[in-house]
Amino acid sequence: MAFSPKHLLGIEHLSPTDITAILDLAETYVDLNRKEQKQGGALAGMTQVNMFFENSTRTQASFELAGKRLGADVLNLAMGASSIKKGETLIDTAMTLNAMNPDMLVVRHPHSGAVDLLSQKVKCAVLNAGDGRHEHPTQALLDALTIRRAKGRIHRLNIAICGDIAHSRVARSNIFLLNKMENRIRLVGPQTLMPSGIDKFGVEVYDDMNEGLKDVDVVMMLRLQRERMDGAFIPSEREYYYRWGLTREKLANAKDDAIVMHPGPMNRGVEIDGDIADDINRSVIQEQVEMGVAVRMAAMDLLAQGLRARRREAVSV
Ligand code: NCD
Repeated sequence: MAFSPKHLLGIEHLSPTDITAILDLAETYVDLNRKEQKQGGALAGMTQVNMFFENSTRTQASFELAGKRLGADVLNLAMGASSIKKGETLIDTAMTLNAMNPDMLVVRHPHSGAVDLLSQKVKCAVLNAGDGRHEHPTQALLDALTIRRAKGRIHRLNIAICGDIAHSRVARSNIFLLNKMENRIRLVGPQTLMPSGIDKFGVEVYDDMNEGLKDVDVVMMLRLQRERMDGAFIPSEREYYYRWGLTREKLANAKDDAIVMHPGPMNRGVEIDGDIADDINRSVIQEQVEMGVAVRMAAMDLLAQGLRARRREAVSV
């Protein structure tokens, strides 16, 4: 098996072969998901628990669908109503769940590193559905699958990631993945929204969007993540849109066949013109959502295979 880690916590420690294995398997799930009978058996008999300590629409829904389509029993814990509100720590909650013998734990948490910490305390496979501004591995994988299908490859492309890079786990995971696959990455946005230590990321940085988008194959837009900002990072939304919002005029700098991406949720008229988001000739935003289910099915299938292999080994020792 090409992909053998116990957990999927980030892209940083995956190899290009791991990434390709996940994307290739995801392709088979894209086909399955377009059929009327969407049942695969990779997680048959297994229990998947989704713990989202932060709001989510797409990610939670697609992990839930992915688990159900693979035959798992899926439990969505409403973390707002859980004992965390009564002062229980994350680790105590995890240990309690662990005692119920789940097989897959899908966790989103506002603190960077929290999901990794939790993975060290439980016996099952843990998937990071976004931890603070650290990583969001399944988002980067679904973005890669979307790009690979639209462009026919996932290497040697010019890709601009634009907007609030500093607060974005989507940007970090994408930078890791796209660098590993040997693409040229440009980060475009105001200086105030660039992460510190950017020179170590192996990227080019632009604060002028027209220059940054010149001849790129892919334009990836990001939301201003105000929930992670502790001060004023931009002058006003109006000025932000004027300088860094994706409009048709700015997009004209990119290649004629450049695709436009956004992980959602989108703020129309802030980082992106609604008209471009809805343009089926340029925008692949809906495809990203579709690929999200397939990629999560592939990731959980591979982790389940690893889990079964380890359990067999443990029994035979
Ligand atoms: C992203 C996230 O939660 O990090 N959304 C997502 O998972 N689709 C991006 C964001 O919140 O802006």
